[in-house]
Amino acid sequence: MLQLEFFPRTEFRSLLDFQHLESERISLSDRKILVGHFEFFQSPKANDVIRKQHSNLVDKILGFRTKYVEEMLVADARGFDPEGSHETWGPSIHGGIQTWVGLDIETLQTPYSECLRILQLLKIKPYQQIIDLGAAYGRMGVVIGGLFIKNSFTGFEFVKARVEEGNRVYNEMGFNRCQLLERDLFSKDFKLPEADVYFIYDYGQVDHIDHTLNQMAKIAEKRPVKVVVRGQFTRRIIKEKHEWLDLKYEGKLEEDFSIYTAYIV
Ligand SMILES: C[S@@+](CC[C@H](N)C(=O)[O-])C[C@H]1O[C@@H](n2cnc3c(N)ncnc32)[C@H](O)[C@@H]1O
Repeated sequence: MLQLEFFPRTEFRSLLDFQHLESERISLSDRKILVGHFEFFQSPKANDVIRKQHSNLVDKILGFRTKYVEEMLVADARGFDPEGSHETWGPSIHGGIQTWVGLDIETLQTPYSECLRILQLLKIKPYQQIIDLGAAYGRMGVVIGGLFIKNSFTGFEFVKARVEEGNRVYNEMGFNRCQLLERDLFSKDFKLPEADVYFIYDYGQVDHIDHTLNQMAKIAEKRPVKVVVRGQFTRRIIKEKHEWLDLKYEGKLEEDFSIYTAYIV
């Protein structure tokens, strides 16, 4: 049982326990204690609906203002494209880039429990670096900042407002090895830095993802890399065009991700 300043008998058995913490608006010092516990990032049940509700509550407990930020983006996009939807709004305000403005936030982002599961499966060693390509608000960085404190995390994200909000929470929580950077992964000036692990969850169009995977292949000629891919889209591109990646783990049932490794010698 977890000892928080104001909640000495905290348990994480059901969503109600998380709802209770959310409604009490707990102190920053208690939030810092919470993120150091695996149970905080574990969904009370493994099904998709509960995992999303759990992640939504974790965001609220940590003070993420994602709803506000996304509503501002939608309002902006509606001005340009009143009849649009989440398929068209992102590209219409972000120079053709698919930023998924208007998409439900729990579909936009990976659930915390899945970020935790991925990091556990990867068996990452201290000081290894993890990069998220198209990071949104940087949930992977929250789990790393809380539980894998010797690792560093960089999330690249096109949408400035998401980057600022994610970094605001990282700074407040003192996650000093985690950062979000505002970048266009498809820009000519973007050079993919070396890392031990890359995470991609269907961030853009086929040619964008293909471009990023080609950059990764160059890095894999110099050092071993692990690549975690979430979503069907990127996995299909890998199957069709990137045989240099070896499939090591394929998520079953409700796990929507695969893990690949590569070291091209
Ligand atoms: C499906 S979300 C995944 C978010 C996060 N990786 C996760 O799994 O929770 C993809 C993100 O990639 C961003 N994105 C799309 N195209 C991009 C680009 N060219 N450069 C940087 N970010 C991009 C979108 O704005 C969106 O936030």
